[in-house]
Amino acid sequence: MSAPSIVILTGAGISAESGLGTFRDEGGLWAQHRIEDVATPEAFARNPQLVVDFYNARRTQAHAATPNAAHVAIARLQANHAGPVTLVTQNVDDLHEKGGSQDVIHMHGALTSALCATCDNRWPAPLTMAVGAACPRCNAPAARPDIVWFGEIPYHMERIERALSAADIFVAIGTSGNVYPAAGFVQMARHVGARTIEMNLDPGENAGLFDETRPGKASDTVPVWVETVLAG
Ligand code: OAD
Repeated sequence: MSAPSIVILTGAGISAESGLGTFRDEGGLWAQHRIEDVATPEAFARNPQLVVDFYNARRTQAHAATPNAAHVAIARLQANHAGPVTLVTQNVDDLHEKGGSQDVIHMHGALTSALCATCDNRWPAPLTMAVGAACPRCNAPAARPDIVWFGEIPYHMERIERALSAADIFVAIGTSGNVYPAAGFVQMARHVGARTIEMNLDPGENAGLFDETRPGKASDTVPVWVETVLAG
């Protein structure tokens, strides 16, 4: 039998042990900030400084963070598994890349990237972005964080759906299953007969849809699972 095709979805929980806060756990980011104030296009139109400051703080924190054993284990799986391993993350940090992953699908955008709201050009974001910074291509004063806000369409959906439609194994790590479309990936994977595994500290909203649950901290559960897969 050929090596299974694996799709991995990660969320904030995988970066928690690297010191980056999750969104919905007690004291998480959405307990400290209202989504409507910092994570919507309307918020950016109303008060761009507040929104840019929010992401500047998160970018600075992510820049200083180091990957943990879960990020490193996934990179090891991508490098050594004989079949395809598609890594999709809802995270905007770059800890998968720092952990050694070569190909990371950032469906909610990336803190390391800036986006021109006028011409869609992308370029590396400075650690501290300024409101109204000029786009290096079209010169419009329209730089914004390259983040998918609530009400916007996640990136790379075609590629993700293609991978899910061919998945033999689907694994969700450190995500609460609250935000669609990512929360619906497990159903898409089930639809094509994939085995579905959840690795979370607490069961997610969609926990009942998984064939298997491996509770615990990602830095414990993910390396153990990766070794099992690599051992064949
Ligand atoms: P959440 O904060 O909603 O969920 C984090 C999940 O990680 C929870 O289920 C926790 O139990 C789990 N968790 C916490 N620490 C963990 C650890 N050490 N090991 C394993 N699991 C752990 O974060 P997400 O599901 O990623 O979107 O949130 C999804 C989206 O909602 C985010 O991408 C963001 C947010 O609003 C946007 O900003 C567009």
